[in-house]
Amino acid sequence: FAAEFTTGDLRKVDNVAHRGASAYAPENTISAFDKAVEMKADYIEIDVQRSKDGKLVIIHDTTVNRTTDGTGKVGELTFDQLRSLDAGSWKGEQFAGEQIPTFDEVLERYHGKIGILVELKAPELYPGIEESVAEKLRERHLDKPQNEKIIIQSFNHESMKKMNDLVPKVPIGVLTSSRAHTTEQALQEFSSYADYFNPNYGIVTEELVNQVHSLGMKIGSWTVRSQEAADFLLDIKVDAIITDYPDYVDPRN
Ligand code: G3P
Ligand code: CA
Repeated sequence: FAAEFTTGDLRKVDNVAHRGASAYAPENTISAFDKAVEMKADYIEIDVQRSKDGKLVIIHDTTVNRTTDGTGKVGELTFDQLRSLDAGSWKGEQFAGEQIPTFDEVLERYHGKIGILVELKAPELYPGIEESVAEKLRERHLDKPQNEKIIIQSFNHESMKKMNDLVPKVPIGVLTSSRAHTTEQALQEFSSYADYFNPNYGIVTEELVNQVHSLGMKIGSWTVRSQEAADFLLDIKVDAIITDYPDYVDPRN
């Protein structure tokens, strides 16, 4: 109908499955990422850390205690030890045997199929992790301009400056829950190296969205766990909605 075209908005919001479709499958596992693909999300969000012996692995907490049947710090366990853990059962017996994925595995399985929003989780615990991530992207020629649908983000902004120097063509995001980071001055500083400003849902306003846009950055907000929150963010025109429930973002938006 013509009316739809005249009143419709051609803007498309990116539907980002937070740690995969983590409401429906154990976060940061292949089953959660596959579920996100099945649900037609635009991106999966993953948390990258490093094993004691230098392998890049996908897990959110800095210990394995909550999401596996093991205990200990991610960075103090070898890859073989991490890989032997069950990362699925805590979410339900049907997920028993899910393993902690590697960064390599995720790039191999999902690149070209769905976008990947890569969070460097606590990079201060893993000196040199930026170089390792950059190397993995280069190996696969994913450090090239645009359309690769790879974004790198972190709460550690120094780490993101470094990432921007290492792979200048890969979009960078800064994460924050702090209102102190929403001043004009702070945002301007972020815009010198970041393409995305990704705030916690609790601090997002329409004014902030406009401010971020006027500095030439995009804005994605997290973590959406209700339909109301998704609708609010759509309304104030964020560019990305980072959600445990990809089904809350209407594919027509
Ligand atoms: O993508 C944003 C979000 O993942 C940041 O918070 O704690 O879920 O990693 P967290
Ligand atoms: Ca994350």
